[in-house]
Amino acid sequence: MVSPTYYLDPLSTLSMKIITCIEELRDQLRGQLRTAFVPTMGNLHEGHLSLIRLAKRHGDPVVASIFVNRLQFGPNEDFDKYPRTFEADVAKLEKEGVYVLFAPTEKDLYPEPQEFRIQPPDSLGNMLEGEFRPGFFVGVSTVVLKLFSCVQPRVAVFGKKDYQQLMVIRNMSKQLALPTEIIAAETFRSDDGLALSSRNMYLSEQERAEAPALFKELNQIASAIRSGHLNIAELEKAAMAELTRRNWKPDYISIRKQANLQAPSADDLAQQSPLVVVAAAKLGTTRLIDNLEI
Ligand code: PAJ
Repeated sequence: MVSPTYYLDPLSTLSMKIITCIEELRDQLRGQLRTAFVPTMGNLHEGHLSLIRLAKRHGDPVVASIFVNRLQFGPNEDFDKYPRTFEADVAKLEKEGVYVLFAPTEKDLYPEPQEFRIQPPDSLGNMLEGEFRPGFFVGVSTVVLKLFSCVQPRVAVFGKKDYQQLMVIRNMSKQLALPTEIIAAETFRSDDGLALSSRNMYLSEQERAEAPALFKELNQIASAIRSGHLNIAELEKAAMAELTRRNWKPDYISIRKQANLQAPSADDLAQQSPLVVVAAAKLGTTRLIDNLEI
């Protein structure tokens, strides 16, 4: 990876400031009351850039961060091979008019081991993604709180693509009375329906052609529910079976309530509580997640 400090070259023609050190970030943002913040792990695509554009409508200046957060990766996950494309990311953020890119190194953000952790409630943090990726939401919550503490934004934008993550961060912000308003951005998709993701680059050509099948299953479930099919378990099972038949390895396909990601009761269904179908499945070695609000 190219060291972020490369961009601190005084001859640089960038107008965006690239800052790695927390103290310097604080100096740069001192007195800003309307900062809009977009945290990322880099390898930026149009989905990330749509968050930046939304952030611009909600505050000024816009601050983005790039930090591949080791704390949220499991021991057998892709931390080492996670795509790092710093130069290309910088060019994209500069073009979007981002004021500051905060790109700390691990030494800057975790100068010593991070011993304090944010623990989401089990009812939210240990199911779905949390069940298949133990510790994931502890890692996400901890780094997001720390990034918020560095940037002190008035608003921060998160994508609905990571539906449970958005909910964890919303709840954290509310429960800890953070002064940062959480704004949700719609999922940005390719024309064939596949949600953009940094992990899509792991897909072979053949897998990439198959990948939209996940979103198609979500749509099938949504239209079945909309047309009155309320046997939730049956719909989930059928979608899992179809993906398995197509050589996917689904972790879960689950119909939940938008309000708290709990399973809907018969009453909830009768009262047409807003639902969301959330899914995670492996295609080859690549794990994809997606969701659709109903
Ligand atoms: P990352 O996967 O880089 O995503 C950064 C933000 O972009 C998240 O809010 C995510 O939901 C959003 N995003 C990704 N793909 C999207 C798409 N296709 N459409 C809309 N939004 C999309 O999520 C993380 O990083 C990390 O967990 C982080 C929050 C930065 C903490 O480390």
